[in-house]
Amino acid sequence: MKALVLAGGAGTRLRPLSYSLPKQLIPVANKPVLQHIVESIRDLGVTEIGIVVGARDTALADAMGDGSRYGVAFTWIPQDRPLGLAHAVRIARPYLGDSDFLMYLGDNMLPDGVAGPAAEFRARRPAAQLVVSRVADPREFGVAELDGEGRVVRLAEKPRQPRSDLALTGVYFFTPAIHRAVENVTPSARGELEITDAIQLLIEEGLTVRAGHYRGYWKDTGRAEDVLDCNRHLLRSLRPRLAGHIGEECEISGAVVIEEGARVLRSRITGPVVIGAGTVVEDSHIGPDTCVASHCTLRDVQLSDSIVLDGATLSGVRGLYGSVIGRHALVTSGEGTERHRLLVGDHTRIEVAA
Ligand code: G1P
Repeated sequence: MKALVLAGGAGTRLRPLSYSLPKQLIPVANKPVLQHIVESIRDLGVTEIGIVVGARDTALADAMGDGSRYGVAFTWIPQDRPLGLAHAVRIARPYLGDSDFLMYLGDNMLPDGVAGPAAEFRARRPAAQLVVSRVADPREFGVAELDGEGRVVRLAEKPRQPRSDLALTGVYFFTPAIHRAVENVTPSARGELEITDAIQLLIEEGLTVRAGHYRGYWKDTGRAEDVLDCNRHLLRSLRPRLAGHIGEECEISGAVVIEEGARVLRSRITGPVVIGAGTVVEDSHIGPDTCVASHCTLRDVQLSDSIVLDGATLSGVRGLYGSVIGRHALVTSGEGTERHRLLVGDHTRIEVAA
């Protein structure tokens, strides 16, 4: 079996971060979303992974390499325009050949793994095996209707009146039967070639499509709030490791990782917290639920429930929470002034104390 990860898409809901960084590289629990996905695919014993990316997007390949670092082999598949998930399968055909494959949407996190559906697919080999999860509002997802035996009888993409509360998560298992189906779909109301419509065609052909329930944590990391929620969830199982320098006047509690070369002085760290390699924290209170990436400087900062990316500098800022701070960003307090001074990029969101 091969894997196909779909990592095209503009990431508009994660602007401005996604202007300079593909959303799949945003770190959750200090590891890019795409790395979490690759490792979860590798845990299924699948090591050939094709990754569909925007045609001009070299940042992902630059950051992730050829896969050898993760014990897998990547093939990068450029997509000219994001014309839909079924379109991505079309252009990946030369790579996939006649292999069975697992398709994983590159912004979906299912940290509890999909070993169950993978085993069911390998044992029964239906034309498609879907992974579904019960949601409160199915209207923003693909929705599956099942019979009593786990067979899918009908699918609809973002229906106004859902016939069940079972949403399609972003993980699918396919036999090569899907290739004919993706050739036969036409653009949906949103102008995309939907994989949901292609799977519906398999059902109409009389082929077996099955679905298994995923009861673990699932998040489409499309918005900053989702990224933070996922970060909080993953940090719950953080294993503490103190490799950096911790000065005498520090108070460390809960699960805390201080990476090599990091320096923490006169500070309180309330886990779960990750402080990345080479980062300096002084006179601050960090945590809980916070990840600071590498080579950041935090001085006189009070920060919780947040993600700080590489090389950022924060100084003299208290009460910072629920924030995502981009690479090499600078957040400081003014010199003895009550006023605010901002250099704000397009689509930035800032909430200051009144
Ligand atoms: C896509 C699929 C949808 C699925 C969802 C999971 O939606 O079309 O069926 O439920 O991913 O995240 P999109 O993210 O393209 O709106």
